[in-house]
Amino acid sequence: MQYNPPKGTRDFYPSDMALQNMLFTAWRETALRFGFEEYEGPMFEHLEVFTRKSGDEIVKQLYNFKDKSDRELALRPEITPTLARMVASKGRELRKPVKWFSIPRLFRYERMQRGRLREFFQYNLDIMGEPSVSAEAEIVAAAVSLIESFGAKKSEFRVRVNSRRLMRALLLAIPISEERLDKAYGVLDRRAKTDAEGLKQLYADAGFSESERDSIESIFSIKTLAEIGEKWGNNEEVAASLADLHKFFSLVNAYGIIECVIYDPAIVRGLAYYTGIVFEIHDTAGELRAMAGGGRYDNLIGLFGGEPTPAVGFGMGDAVITEFLKDRGMIPQYKKECDAFIVTFEKDNMTPSIQMATLLRSKGFSVEFSLKQANFKKQMEAAQNAKFAVFVGGEEWERGEVKIKNMKSGEEKLVGKLSDELIQILSGK
Ligand code: HAM
Repeated sequence: MQYNPPKGTRDFYPSDMALQNMLFTAWRETALRFGFEEYEGPMFEHLEVFTRKSGDEIVKQLYNFKDKSDRELALRPEITPTLARMVASKGRELRKPVKWFSIPRLFRYERMQRGRLREFFQYNLDIMGEPSVSAEAEIVAAAVSLIESFGAKKSEFRVRVNSRRLMRALLLAIPISEERLDKAYGVLDRRAKTDAEGLKQLYADAGFSESERDSIESIFSIKTLAEIGEKWGNNEEVAASLADLHKFFSLVNAYGIIECVIYDPAIVRGLAYYTGIVFEIHDTAGELRAMAGGGRYDNLIGLFGGEPTPAVGFGMGDAVITEFLKDRGMIPQYKKECDAFIVTFEKDNMTPSIQMATLLRSKGFSVEFSLKQANFKKQMEAAQNAKFAVFVGGEEWERGEVKIKNMKSGEEKLVGKLSDELIQILSGK
């Protein structure tokens, strides 16, 4: 018998839940500020939903199983295919652009490392039905605004941007055939996390010859968009994707966030469905793994039988952003707190406590009292995590009065037990 949770999963004690609630609240607030609506899907899907177009890496990490009717199913490793399926099945009913967000619980059989878990939550923002890069700019602006809302400065993180369309054009020009592009993206996504020997192995395992490898690597000797324009600008696809990137950067400038958004040819993304601009968000110091990743995926909704619908989005896991905020002291200390603790002078009579608690709870206050006979000292100890102590019982109670004590200032007052004054004091007015 094992008494630990399975590897890569977490128990959420109340202090962990408080942190999670803080994170989810910030996620939701940012989504709503940017005009996104919330959606959800099933926690497991037909296996095929994920094997279709997510790419090798995620397929290797699937928790898949057969149910009792022999259906091939998988716990969701991401929600983007579900979203594409949902949008595809509504089709024209949805007014475009559709701006939706979700906070799904996801499952990936990952190799364990800092910031990577086997069960995690991931914030997703997606815009569907908008072909221009204004959608990318809006999505990136929302991500930046979110991270800033925690108190982080723009200098502390970087949105690193590249274009799949550009990479595709450069790879095809080598030439790497269309069918092998997904393999190339898979290698390139892991490029920055691998040493020279490991990288050679990755290329070889993915079936690339040494000369193909050298040609692909030569793309990375070029660091700026201007240089790419000079070298490959007469390739139509390269020119078109460069124009997209320039437009994107000018919009990002208009949002006032250009200082934390940079072009980075190393960003390719592991997932197979991206077709345009792709990006990842990293801490500037480069100490942590990616906090978020996303991009444009114009073919996925069509692949699920919907009419072709352009789409852009990103996912942000709960683990890395939490590490990032913890490292910077941006997570408040957890403390259990309630509005009022009822302290009773009565012996063997819980009625005043219950009546007072019930009344105050009905007004929306969080209220506790001792569930067993406890002496005054014990009750006062328990009242320490309340904003106010309300003393009930004895003659005062008979007269229709209670004493209320502000636990911080020590100030006390006698008030009517049903009075507006009591409610006002508890409300902090
Ligand atoms: P992804 O790059 O696989 O993209 O994941 C996005 C983010 O989710 C990562 O940057 C990381 O913060 C978090 N994440 C991924 N795997 C793990 C893990 N094992 N443990 C903890 N956190 C993790 C996607 O999933 C795309 N579906 C995102 C997207 C939405 N693209 C368009 N729309």
